[in-house]
Amino acid sequence: MSLKFISLIVAAICIAECHAAFETYDSGIQRITLNSIRGLNVWTASSKNGTEGEEISVPAGVPGGIYSDLEESNVLGSAVYHEYNDMENKWVGRLDWTFTRDFVVSPEVNEKSEIVLVCEGLDTVAEVFINDVSVGNSENMFARYVFDVKSAVKEGQNTIRVAFRSPVEYAQTKFREHNETLGYKVVPESLVPEYRGENQAQMIRKMQAAFSWDWGPSYPNSGIWKNIYIEAYNGAIIRDVMIFSEPNQSVPDESNATTWTVTARVYYDSGIDEEVDLSFERVDSTVATTTKVNITIGKGNSVDISLTELGDQIKLWWPNGYGDQNLYWYNVDLNVPQFSETTSRRLRFGFRKVELIEDFVDKDNVIKGREFYFVVNGKQMYSKGSNSIPLHVLTEKITNDQTEWLLRAAKMSHQNMIRVWGGGMYETDTFFDYADEYGIFIWEDFMFACAMYPATDEYLDIVRQEVDTQVKRLQYRTSLVMWAANNENEAALRHDWYGSGWNFDLYKGDYIKLYIDTIKTMTEELDPSRKFISSSPTNGIQSQEEGWVAADPYDLKYGDIHFYNYVSDNWDWNMFLRTRYASEYGFQSFPHYESLAEVANDITTWTWDSPMMDHRQHHPGGQKEIRDLIKMHFPFPENYDSTEAFPYMLYMAQLSQIMGQKTQTEFYRRLMDKMDTDGTGHNMGALYWQLNDIWEGCSWASVEAKGRWKLQMYYAVKFFAPVLASPYLTANGAVNVELISDNPQNVTGSLTVQIYRLSSLTPIYQEVVEVEAEFLRSKQVFMVARSILESLNCGAVSGAMDPCIVYLTLPGTPDNFLFLHYPTNKIFLKDPKLQITSVESVNTKTVSFTLTTEEVAPFVFLTVKDDHRGYFSDNGFVLVNSQKKMEYYSESGITPERFRQQLSAMSLFNVTEIAETVPSTTVTPTTTVGSTETTTADAGKPLVQVLTVLICGLIMLIQDL
Ligand SMILES: *[C@@H]1O[C@H](CO)[C@@H](O)[C@H](O)[C@H]1NC(C)=O
Ligand SMILES: *[C@@H]1O[C@H](CO)[C@@H](O)[C@H](O)[C@H]1NC(C)=O
Ligand SMILES: *[C@@H]1O[C@H](CO)[C@@H](O)[C@H](O)[C@H]1NC(C)=O
Ligand SMILES: *[C@@H]1O[C@H](CO)[C@@H](O)[C@H](O)[C@H]1NC(C)=O
Repeated sequence: MSLKFISLIVAAICIAECHAAFETYDSGIQRITLNSIRGLNVWTASSKNGTEGEEISVPAGVPGGIYSDLEESNVLGSAVYHEYNDMENKWVGRLDWTFTRDFVVSPEVNEKSEIVLVCEGLDTVAEVFINDVSVGNSENMFARYVFDVKSAVKEGQNTIRVAFRSPVEYAQTKFREHNETLGYKVVPESLVPEYRGENQAQMIRKMQAAFSWDWGPSYPNSGIWKNIYIEAYNGAIIRDVMIFSEPNQSVPDESNATTWTVTARVYYDSGIDEEVDLSFERVDSTVATTTKVNITIGKGNSVDISLTELGDQIKLWWPNGYGDQNLYWYNVDLNVPQFSETTSRRLRFGFRKVELIEDFVDKDNVIKGREFYFVVNGKQMYSKGSNSIPLHVLTEKITNDQTEWLLRAAKMSHQNMIRVWGGGMYETDTFFDYADEYGIFIWEDFMFACAMYPATDEYLDIVRQEVDTQVKRLQYRTSLVMWAANNENEAALRHDWYGSGWNFDLYKGDYIKLYIDTIKTMTEELDPSRKFISSSPTNGIQSQEEGWVAADPYDLKYGDIHFYNYVSDNWDWNMFLRTRYASEYGFQSFPHYESLAEVANDITTWTWDSPMMDHRQHHPGGQKEIRDLIKMHFPFPENYDSTEAFPYMLYMAQLSQIMGQKTQTEFYRRLMDKMDTDGTGHNMGALYWQLNDIWEGCSWASVEAKGRWKLQMYYAVKFFAPVLASPYLTANGAVNVELISDNPQNVTGSLTVQIYRLSSLTPIYQEVVEVEAEFLRSKQVFMVARSILESLNCGAVSGAMDPCIVYLTLPGTPDNFLFLHYPTNKIFLKDPKLQITSVESVNTKTVSFTLTTEEVAPFVFLTVKDDHRGYFSDNGFVLVNSQKKMEYYSESGITPERFRQQLSAMSLFNVTEIAETVPSTTVTPTTTVGSTETTTADAGKPLVQVLTVLICGLIMLIQDL
């Protein structure tokens, strides 16, 4: 076979795009792609706009979706995310849409004995017709469907029609039917109104967030969202390949003492019972197995083929921060000599052994609970990372560039774990390619979130197709670390979030049927190589022992928890909980002013509580919570709801978010080597909520929808640094400095501890100590005694105090700081007269510059106004030195001229310029040394707090935290 021939076939099979980690080189198999871009006018999408409405017909893109088709044809007026368009466009999701095109079947295709239509993804409920013959149905966005079409196609011209039912109408019909036939509702019946969404997403196997979420708009799409093609063969073809690689040692290494048995489980569809050739080889090596196997007629049968890799011939794969991400290409060929047909799969994977440890922390005292951490190639790993949601609510708008950009940010911020959250989608191949390459483990939820779900036979059948598709699709991924059945549904059931409490046992029965008997059983059968957990949060083994719905799924001593508290002082670490593993935690903020401007008719009319802001704040009470946190820590502008104050409120909302995340993450990391006598502590995971935005709206995200880094991303780079000096106030009023490390290498250095006041660039205190960071330790390396703080007049104070700031410098690690008093009082904020000098081009994508200040400048905020994909070497920092050398990187390139022109810089001082701020006497500074002492003195009394916590759109009252 000539090379040219191979590349033609590859082009035909890759269809839309070829992925780095998955390629196929077939011969003798016939394929007809039915994908086509919108501009070629091959596909048409049409509907009748209601019974009396007009006929709508527009060119469609495949893969694609109806909203983008209508947007491109100017049927929607303006871009989907503009202003109130999510509301204006609701009619689209409430209609049925039909997609049609013609295609030609050649004699070579038509004469094959097996002809199938492969739909890698139909969104969602559809009937597929070829030449008006119904060939199959789809009821699951996440399932791949392979329909026999031999008797429906004919040589020459053919027509395919995919008729989608309105997902909204379908979900609501299913909801009613369930209630009518089984006598109970699959709750919740409706979302909180702030979501501005569609109800009962739980009844349809579709991206749950497409019906809206507390961070995203409602856009229930319809369309052919993945590749679609006709496939014709006489013998057999490979459908899926799973890879199992087992080392002979419990701790694999790179010596010849380790050998790996690598097994490819090859799933095939066959029209024959025949002896065929199967081979499995490492590309560009002599490591190969070739054998004859007997295959059998049918779909989804499998055959195994193994080879052996010697430990000294391959290098291990490590998560980000622990070593390199070595990956190897392998090739699997299934050759049917009788028909000269070969299907090949080329897959890339790496060698690593990973375990989830859930041992008792104390075998002699089991009530102290169980550990929850991962071990990779024999090394304990502290999980640092975040939770991802879909990059766009309309999947057709997600690009590979955007995906890479997002995962690059995760890598740059030292993340080694992303939880792909259960209300979105099983991520794209590109997403997994970069997770493999960047060393980021994927904790993979099944797509069930924040609701009760049906467990009828019909529904379970639909779910099984999804499990089969996704487990076989993703199993070979090196980055895939764990399967999890759902998001927060164990907790929702236990604590009756949605009205299931009237019959707990009934809903629990459904819960177990769906997640345990179906998803867990099937996943473990298909992929015994991975850990499966039943929910998040869950107590792991303890939840299982308690019958899968634990008495308290938020038990700190077991498994993971999600933690949200928007009302307490989030600069005070005492409000956070001593959990084993925090798999969700965060605070809200908004995107940059410049980003909001792009979806606004006129951003200069927006204010904090203006209708558009309210529209993009889906979390009930969110605006007030953010405002109260701002008031607690910053000079609060009395005119906060004015157009003048608006940009500064956005800025302070971001500051409020980063300080909460910084305080909380450092608290968790400091707990990595500490356990209390009650068994709490030994935290081994911090995955913040949430990595990315879905649109320009209020959310917990660190990266905006178009890629711009919010300040939280810059802070993640710092709070997740492998080695970090972390200061905090102790109960007796001293400042402790701990040196946190999950750097596998021990490192030493000189730590400088300084104390500044806002009034001077000269520190009022300075000490230097030699320190050594040790792997998985957070040890105290310095303390500033309370008596010293008092002698510096940094002790007990009122809000009228010029704030003291502890500032830490350790070369090779991010600087860190602690405000001993909050900068609420504007009289202490002086104009730093920030200047940018020496702007120079480093290369076409990077400029260097120097930032100078005349005063201590808290929270310097730099923006390149017209650039979404770029980042500064630092941002949001507290500037205590008169000069800081910096860089800005732009993905699309930047000149010094444009940089100067587009740069804006501010610090907390600018807030004081806009208007009267609330007098400081009305603000109670809560983290002064004095007030901490008060808490200590009161420690004997039970401290009962009532906190409002919002999870899954539901306000809970948590008492006595
Ligand atoms: C379709 O009907 C809805 C009302 O049901 C209307 O708001 C919308 O503008 C119509 N769209 C078109 C393209 O006619
Ligand atoms: C559920 O079924 C009951 C009994 O048939 C009926 O009274 C009720 O209106 C139904 N509720 C919904 C939301 O369909
Ligand atoms: C393994 O490597 C060691 C050290 O290089 C060597 O002495 C030994 O012969 C090797 N064993 C095998 C089975 O290749
Ligand atoms: C395939 O089946 C035939 C007939 O049973 C048998 O003779 C042959 O050995 C089998 N081949 C393999 C590879 O098992």
